[in-house]
Amino acid sequence: MSASRLSRRRAITLAGAGVAGVAGVAAGAGALARGGAERASADQGAAAGAVPFHGEHQAGITTPAQDRLHFVAFDVVTKDRARLVELLGEWTAAAARMTAGKDAGVIGAVGGVPEAPPDDTGEALGLPPSQLTLTVGFGPTLFRDAQGRDRFGLAGRRPAALVDLPHFAGDALRPEISGGDLCVQACANDPQVAVHAIRNLARIGMGVVSVRWSQLGFGRTSSTSTGQATPRNLFGFKDGTANLKAEDGGLLREHLWVQPGDGPDWMTGGSYLVTRKIRMIVETWDRSSLVEQEQIVGRTKGSGAPLGKGDEFDEPDFAAKGDDGQPVIAATSHVRLAHPDANDGARLLRRGYNFVDGSDGLGRLDAGLFFIAYQRDPRKQFVPIQTRLARNDAMNEYLRHVSSGIFACPPGVRDGGDHWGRALFG
Ligand code: HEM
Repeated sequence: MSASRLSRRRAITLAGAGVAGVAGVAAGAGALARGGAERASADQGAAAGAVPFHGEHQAGITTPAQDRLHFVAFDVVTKDRARLVELLGEWTAAAARMTAGKDAGVIGAVGGVPEAPPDDTGEALGLPPSQLTLTVGFGPTLFRDAQGRDRFGLAGRRPAALVDLPHFAGDALRPEISGGDLCVQACANDPQVAVHAIRNLARIGMGVVSVRWSQLGFGRTSSTSTGQATPRNLFGFKDGTANLKAEDGGLLREHLWVQPGDGPDWMTGGSYLVTRKIRMIVETWDRSSLVEQEQIVGRTKGSGAPLGKGDEFDEPDFAAKGDDGQPVIAATSHVRLAHPDANDGARLLRRGYNFVDGSDGLGRLDAGLFFIAYQRDPRKQFVPIQTRLARNDAMNEYLRHVSSGIFACPPGVRDGGDHWGRALFG
């Protein structure tokens, strides 16, 4: 066994021992006094642990949103279908290993012969799994490229729901950071672990795929589980209050997972991913008054309660009028326009991250929200919601959509004999 594998495994064992140790102490006499510290340490243990890679659905969708993101879109550069399928198999094996906290390859970063490049890049040595999840998706251009070519004999297998997104009012998309034949979303509680995973997938894919664009994110902007506190986006507002959550069983079947009969069969149990890089003009936002900011969102900045209500999780009352006879929640507010009541009941599972990509050379932060949403059918969910928002949302004055992507994320990898894309290419 290589030294690298030993050291990562030791780190995991230590993380596990931390949790077990906490349980042991909790049974002792001093447990009450130390309760807070113990809870914190147990939380840290869980945050460092592993998320199962195999399952009915891909991890990284309803998994409680981790703290960090590295998202990548690839172009396929080979014309050889067999080589692409082979890569998807190699990626799957590496992903199963890395999400378990192991090196990307079986030899490891330092376990091989000195004359050969290692099969892991090494920067995650000694780090625990950090709840790394790797979620794969297939873009429209994998099925037919921009020139209309069916490169891999997949054109007939393209899902009708994997639409080319229409142009939305105000879009300022940059093609070089939009689209992609394949994508991988890496989420983890340690940015180094997420970056390590994407870097190694890119390394393994050399000659078959090339990185088209990638995005780092921090500070999740959604809760995807009722157990998580709602985080804040860079406008300072709670984000993710009215999100679809892992515990929403029936709603997930209705709004998130592709159901039998939706077609095509290879997508049953999968979900469609829409990404939008949304630049926030934070300098202008920061000069607007608190009351204006709250009217734009439709919620209070402190508690996140809908305007006119007291608690974050109260239902908004869109019919309520103020003393001036005007709606308490403005007609152009974000939550009114994005709410299921305005969109034929449509909902999304949002899973975005904040980003700051340095500054723009004009004295402004290049900051915003990397919006990520999963859904059963973008034609009935993202497209109508975004059409409405793009036309009327008062928030648009402070936003610019600069990148866009849509991907079909297949169901989960069932076991060691399964791999990413098996049903699609099968
Ligand atoms: C930078 C851009 C955006 C910001 C700052 C933002 C911010 C927010 C905030 C603060 C909330 C209220 C809290 C919550 O329920 O999560 C919210 C709700 C929501 N947003 Fe956004 N959002 C952005 C873009 C989008 C986009 C592009 C979409 C979809 C096309 C979207 C869809 C939704 C939905 C569906 C809700 C829940 C509405 C409800 O059911 O009450 N948002 N957003």
